[in-house]
Amino acid sequence: MPREIITVQAGQCGNSIGSQFWPQLCQEHGISQDGNLEDFATEGGDRKDVFFYQSDDTRYIPRAILIDLEPRVLNGIQTGPYKNIYNPENFFVGKNGVGAANNWGDGYQTGELVHEEVMEMIDREADGSDSLEGFMMLHSIAGGTGSGLGSFLLERLNDRFPKKIIQTYSVFPDTQNDNVVVHPYNSLLSMRRLTQNADSVVVLDNGALSRIAADRLHVQEPSFQQTNQLVSTVMSASTTPLRYPGYMHNDLVSIVASLIPTPRCHFLMTSYTPFTGANVEQAKTVRKTTVLDVMRRLLQPKNRMVSTIPGKKSCYISILNVIQGDVDPTDVHKSLLRIRERKLATFIPWGPASIQVALTKKSPYIPMNHRVSGLMLANHTSIATLFKRIVRHYDTMRKRNAFMEGYKKTAPFADNLNEFDEAKEVVTDLIAEYEAAENADYLNPEGDKAAGEAGDKRVTILKMSNQQQSKAD
Ligand code: GTP
Ligand code: MG
Repeated sequence: MPREIITVQAGQCGNSIGSQFWPQLCQEHGISQDGNLEDFATEGGDRKDVFFYQSDDTRYIPRAILIDLEPRVLNGIQTGPYKNIYNPENFFVGKNGVGAANNWGDGYQTGELVHEEVMEMIDREADGSDSLEGFMMLHSIAGGTGSGLGSFLLERLNDRFPKKIIQTYSVFPDTQNDNVVVHPYNSLLSMRRLTQNADSVVVLDNGALSRIAADRLHVQEPSFQQTNQLVSTVMSASTTPLRYPGYMHNDLVSIVASLIPTPRCHFLMTSYTPFTGANVEQAKTVRKTTVLDVMRRLLQPKNRMVSTIPGKKSCYISILNVIQGDVDPTDVHKSLLRIRERKLATFIPWGPASIQVALTKKSPYIPMNHRVSGLMLANHTSIATLFKRIVRHYDTMRKRNAFMEGYKKTAPFADNLNEFDEAKEVVTDLIAEYEAAENADYLNPEGDKAAGEAGDKRVTILKMSNQQQSKAD
């Protein structure tokens, strides 16, 4: 039975990423620009129905809802080469077409006005699937629509589909150099919903994406199209276990359960290797990619698509490597031993210190430049340093009351600024949770009774997620 996933893309960033993700999936599955199966696509063994359904005339249609409050990006999709692949009923463009002006409050209040129409689209897609597994949201958290309307929809999705998994691919701003001055406000407000209403958040930040484009692809000042190619590659790789299923990690719940032992620490970072850029010819001649090379590179901080500053106690809570290509399972075993001997990865002291590996098939329709490629999905405590940076930037602006007027004009802030204070509290607690996870007594903290109760709760939750009970159906 397929375990279908509905993708909700919101705002400029979410839809721009989607506009590169869907063509990539089509190419991998041998689906043409108009949704028909290509004549050469006869290999089988793939599960197209997780991300696509078939229309009456047997064309493959993405299970995607495309939402924006301004029309530019969606117009581009509707006139682009893949325009015929989408269900035209699944586009939602805001009526006045002006966007949320980089204001989370604006996006969120628009949610109140438009959610019925949007939820109707989502319900229709949900009704059209046999055994819906969950949702994937694509958005940035720094602007107005993806962040504010995205937050509103996360709350609604969680309410309406409490048993379904909600995973997001969330693009965080380049905190050093972002074009949105109020990004700390919008990020903090979105972080609260990502913490409370999502099961798993794949964090990508534009600072790290630009750095990787410069280092790996040798592109200085990359365009969004180039950074989105990195994101699309990560999304494609992280969904291959679902699309080319093996015995394990073949649905979203098992991936999430294997990475997230306690529900709040559900922010994941990724690394991918090797990226192929303009220098691919040269790379091919100097490199022989082995499983060990790939796994070792995945652990290097410079390959992470998140800008964090690991501290002395930072450690992995979990790792899942998705390895694709021509791989002998004994090489995997040897590589894991080598990584352990060399102590290349430090794990939490309270759980299993092991790298999980999913070996998956690669699309037979796309020529491979490398023998082996890999994606790491990792839960690492240093992600808290990114959240700390957001809180620090937020504090600086909030102290000066900078740019507060625009927010006060919107419904969530009409009466008071509690929304900000509550969001800060949630994010501060989240940071504390990650820091606590670095300690050996995380599951059973000694000391006062309250801490003991927190520990008990964590143990119970740990058991639950190990049994994959919470959202298994
Ligand atoms: P409003 O336009 O304010 O209504 O919201 P929006 O959700 O459309 O905003 P947008 O997605 O443009 O969010 C702004 C943030 O996203 C900034 O941090 C941008 O740098 C980043 N961003 C915008 N487009 C892209 C994109 O295509 N790729 C990447 N990686 N980042 C993007
Ligand atoms: Mg926009």
